[in-house]
Amino acid sequence: MKKPQYYFLGERNTADLDFSNLGFDYIACPYRFEAVFQHGLWRSRGLVEDNTMHIPEGSQCLHYGQQLFEGMKVFRGGDDTIYAFRPRDNSRRLNEGARYIRGPEVPEELFIRGIEEVVAANHPYVPPHGSGASLYLRPFYVGIGDNVGVKPATDYVFRIFVAPVGPYYKGGFGPDQGKSFMVSRYDRAAPSGTGHIKAGGNYAASFHPGSEAKSAGFVDAIYLDPAEHKFIEEVGAANFLAFKGDALLTPDSPSILRSITRQSLLEIAAEIFKWPTEERKISVDELDDFSAAACCGTAAVITWIESIVDADRKWEFPFDERWQKLYDVLVGIQTGAKDDPFGWRYEISV
Ligand SMILES: Cc1ncc(COP(=O)(O)O)c(C=O)c1O
Repeated sequence: MKKPQYYFLGERNTADLDFSNLGFDYIACPYRFEAVFQHGLWRSRGLVEDNTMHIPEGSQCLHYGQQLFEGMKVFRGGDDTIYAFRPRDNSRRLNEGARYIRGPEVPEELFIRGIEEVVAANHPYVPPHGSGASLYLRPFYVGIGDNVGVKPATDYVFRIFVAPVGPYYKGGFGPDQGKSFMVSRYDRAAPSGTGHIKAGGNYAASFHPGSEAKSAGFVDAIYLDPAEHKFIEEVGAANFLAFKGDALLTPDSPSILRSITRQSLLEIAAEIFKWPTEERKISVDELDDFSAAACCGTAAVITWIESIVDADRKWEFPFDERWQKLYDVLVGIQTGAKDDPFGWRYEISV
């Protein structure tokens, strides 16, 4: 692998971090990528070292939440090749959000260029193959300007920072890593609101319910549909999955974020394992009929749900080997350990 001149690594190829024991935390890496939208044009500022942003106090992102973010991961293969996972899907989802919050789309070419540049510039922070860790990428987008009225910005900043991360839920995935979730009485999104886009306000709205669940001893809250509180929506940062007999089920709802990990798992289930899959409304009462439950996302990967509790009921789910099968294929594709029949890996040259 050809290495940029600005690191002096000797025989090593990674930074001196304890990659096998990382949490899901911010670690300041040397470079971030930035582009600005001004006068109707996107312009790349390239790589910047300062992790502090200087933006006008009247900026729409600060007052009216005109903001979006993405989360994606980059992996190091056994031969040191570096791969992003389905980056064009994150680009597409960011632009769905941009249209909704009435900002300019980020051209896919700019999004991909940013990812390539920021990963190459920070390549010693891509964790070693087999460490279980990955490089988390946080592309985000903010409306800025000298403004006070409630209206979309004319200028925007698109930035990507990176941080090496371990599991989102402590302990990660495995047959001894069951997690308990609490059904929340609150909503994270409105029935016809912004739940389907990755806007920061959805996450601010989840802090109170999430804290309530965590202080009661659960790892996170599970949200129900905001109109009737009858159907399962999703977790704060992950989509819901369950097995009913042979079928892999996942909720369909206009107010959940459509997880790229979930889409990948449904495709793996259908194409590789030939399991039936269903995307449909799932009532809370139907939990009685499920043999297994989990949640999935870029950060959560697959997280086995061992129990779910609501105001007066508790459901328990044993570990199901099918989670392991899905996990092995997904992570195998992401890390280059398995073939990629779907074309999901995106190689990044450094
Ligand atoms: C609310 C929510 N649901 C689901 C997900 C999982 O989506 P993905 O698999 O695309 O990361 C995330 C994380 O991005 C999320 O924030």
